[in-house]
Amino acid sequence: MKNKLSELNKKIEEAKLGGGVDRIKKQHSKGKLTARERVHLLLDPGSFEELGMLVEHRSVDFGMERQKFLGDGVVTGYGKIQGRLVYVFSQDFTVFGGSLSETHAEKIVKIMDLAMVNKAPVIGLNDSGGARIQEGVNSLGGYADIFYRNTIASGLIPQISAIMGPCAGGAVYSPAITDFTIMVDQSSYMFVTGPNVVKTVTNEEITSEELGGANTHATKSGVTHLVAANDKDCILKLRKLLSYIPQSCEEKTPDLPYEMGEELREKIGEFIPESPNQPYNIKDIIQQLVDSDSFFEIHEKFADNMVVGFSRIAGKSIGIVANQPMSLAGVLDVDSSRKAARFVRFCDSFNIPLLVLVDVPGFLPGTDQEWNGIIVNGAKLLFAFSEATVPRVSLIVRKAYGGAYDVMNSKHIGADLNYAWPTAEVAVMGAKGASEIIFRKEIKEASDAAEMLQQKEAEYAEKFAHPYKAAGRGFIDEVIDPKNTRRKLIRAFKMLENKKVQRPNKKHGNIPL
Ligand code: HXC
Repeated sequence: MKNKLSELNKKIEEAKLGGGVDRIKKQHSKGKLTARERVHLLLDPGSFEELGMLVEHRSVDFGMERQKFLGDGVVTGYGKIQGRLVYVFSQDFTVFGGSLSETHAEKIVKIMDLAMVNKAPVIGLNDSGGARIQEGVNSLGGYADIFYRNTIASGLIPQISAIMGPCAGGAVYSPAITDFTIMVDQSSYMFVTGPNVVKTVTNEEITSEELGGANTHATKSGVTHLVAANDKDCILKLRKLLSYIPQSCEEKTPDLPYEMGEELREKIGEFIPESPNQPYNIKDIIQQLVDSDSFFEIHEKFADNMVVGFSRIAGKSIGIVANQPMSLAGVLDVDSSRKAARFVRFCDSFNIPLLVLVDVPGFLPGTDQEWNGIIVNGAKLLFAFSEATVPRVSLIVRKAYGGAYDVMNSKHIGADLNYAWPTAEVAVMGAKGASEIIFRKEIKEASDAAEMLQQKEAEYAEKFAHPYKAAGRGFIDEVIDPKNTRRKLIRAFKMLENKKVQRPNKKHGNIPL
């Protein structure tokens, strides 16, 4: 027995070294942690159970039969985060650059399958040179096995991808299917084809960082939802994100303990400027409504005319979708619509109630928007809200104009409770634009056109620039004093916590992609 155990321990020690001491040193010299260090930092201390530590690749081409590393470039297993089960894979760059072989893929597939039947999240820590070049189509098949499971698992269990090194070629499509992607600044990149191919095909000269670094994907493409300063920050953010999310579509996020305190927010109204055309920061309003320090923003730097993120109200996890008047006056455009739509669908998949803060002057006009498909992209958000069956509460803070009023979780598309502040303006459009159209003749014929426009604008504003017409129709359930809002929201989400909606039986909807 002693000899047998010593043989086992030798193998375990060998596996733990991955590609060897020198390659580990190289990894550290780049400011990166190793695959195992990442897993141990991610999971609650002592909770990691590794599976497939002794797996070896089966390749015999190019002398590969003489180069074998136990574990084959990926650490896989399960453990706990904040006491809850998660499955994890962590690619080991010290073994063939973390490249994906047939067996490496099989290890990932194994934990994905376990995660699906046991209904717990999968977290992938990606750091890989892509397909194991020596293995050809076996590697491509392995990728497809993963993509297929990513798709089947979508909406069943949460899937989160951290990009902590290279992620290139078709390898990018697994993170793209998962629910959230987080990239480490300066040490990770994602692209379908790298700078060399770009230069050959389009003659553009560009660095990896500019083409597909964290900042690029956080601001330009929206491919990444979060950016981390370094590996440690990435792991901490992953743990925090998980705290807002349930284990699967069959569960709710556990509530955090909360004791009711002074829930009035006397100063909240002061954040709204007197003039309806003056911007303010919607995040100031969010901070006043949610539990302190609980707001966790997603996609912060992408389409910042829309704010989305997780938060808590009286200890309950919620998703927030809010127009941001500080950026483009909070208009809906292509990027903000698809950003919000994706977030709404995530929350709906995983039973996370939605709070929607509305201050929207409409859709952004122009050729750029029309030619880039504002029609289908705006429809994504409309579809996502209409389809969502989680508790949905709206608060119209200021403007709710035109089609954007309908889209932003209006009563008509299934919101449960619609509140408005007295500052709300629910109308087809702003008073000036409306007057210029409907009183065009009177203004043209007036001796003082400017004065006539002003008079008509005031007339229109008196009639429509308030919430009372909508409240009179019951499209708004209550016009509330801003200082009472948090208290109302606590009660509203509590009242809605057992909401159940049965949709007509069908295969699936056809969201305008
Ligand atoms: C096998 C690989 C590898 C790969 C890296 N290595 N990528 N081995 N297959 N894809 C090995 C290297 O030979 C080296 O081995 C070790 O990993 C570290 O690589 P370095 O090049 O020394 O590291 P670095 O300078 O940091 O550069 C990292 C890199 C580069 C940018 C990722 O290695 C690279 O360009 N690799 C090839 C990337 C690629 O073309 N992949 C295929 C993409 S196509 P030693 O023994 O020296 O330590 C693809 C299709 C997927 O992925 C399709 C799915 C549908």
